[in-house]
Amino acid sequence: MKKIFAVSAVLLSSLVPAFADEAPIGQQIVDALNKVYGVHPGFRANHAKGIVVEGTFKGSPDASRLSKASIFDGSAIPVTIRFSDAGGVPNVADGSKGLPHGMAIKYHLKDGSETDMVLVSLKFFPVSDGAGFRDLLLATAASPPNAPKPTKLDAFLAAHPAAPAALASTSTPDSFADEEYYGIDAFIFVDKDGKKQPVRYMMQPEKLVHLDPADAAKKAPDFLVDELPARLAKGPVTFHLQAQLAAPGDQTRDPSKPWPADRKVVELGTLTIDKVDPDSLAAQKKLLFLPGALAPGIEQSDDPLIDVRDGAYVVSFGRRNP
Ligand code: HEM
Repeated sequence: MKKIFAVSAVLLSSLVPAFADEAPIGQQIVDALNKVYGVHPGFRANHAKGIVVEGTFKGSPDASRLSKASIFDGSAIPVTIRFSDAGGVPNVADGSKGLPHGMAIKYHLKDGSETDMVLVSLKFFPVSDGAGFRDLLLATAASPPNAPKPTKLDAFLAAHPAAPAALASTSTPDSFADEEYYGIDAFIFVDKDGKKQPVRYMMQPEKLVHLDPADAAKKAPDFLVDELPARLAKGPVTFHLQAQLAAPGDQTRDPSKPWPADRKVVELGTLTIDKVDPDSLAAQKKLLFLPGALAPGIEQSDDPLIDVRDGAYVVSFGRRNP
């Protein structure tokens, strides 16, 4: 019930325009994604290609000290996970140059509620807010291969140095299981006494394996989506969820600015994946992961991207499930 209310509240806010003559930012972004990638009925406007798997998460004692959220109580929490290729093209080649990969996790809590984490293989975001993301997409749409140089995209990237740096921070893994994924947006952990700690999530594989770009280009178009079921048939896959802790004074508002690499990292728990959803295509259509769907003990930071993302994901969900 709580979840339905949360989704309707987001849906409502995503439908209320900031100005009477302007669509809400989430809708503008989904329209811009459709311009870049085309409309593919039944598929997500972004991260259209993916695979759904199942497993469990077990929180660590350190996690339960930092946050009172029940996902960290140490019990085995069932999870549904969707790995994906970024972009809105459902048959994109998994090894496409510069293509980030996603990992979305839904934790099924004992009280029947759910909480989500939506991570990507970029180390930080190319822009700091929703308008920036919309403008990056519009510049991309206006810069086809035959566009005169410098293109609108060239101009955008030159004016936003974080964008090319962020896009260069990812490369093709040899498996969805051998990649690291980042939460990028800051969230706030709240402990039993109400003490708050800003964090950013990182999901670490047992081993990180990136391909040489020339080898990635030679891979079959579906090699990542095909490899995961084959790997799981041989045994479970493990990830370690970690939190990078902000130091006092670290900003939490701008997802294009990572915190210094020497910030403390805490092990939050172990994620074990043991099976593929037998009908992944049908399952992914019904699934909606929202970065702002949080459990008590985890709060949103002042990062404006979280609300923009919730709005856009709901618009995209509505269009792929008309
Ligand atoms: C303004 C910023 C962003 C916008 C507007 C945006 C937009 C979208 C949209 C429209 C979808 C499809 C949602 C659906 O149909 O369910 C999507 C999916 C996704 N996004 Fe974003 N995104 C943004 C930033 C990010 C960031 C910062 C991350 C990671 C930290 C991320 C990771 C993902 C992933 C992993 C998916 C696939 C989720 C799934 O498997 O259902 N996105 N995004």
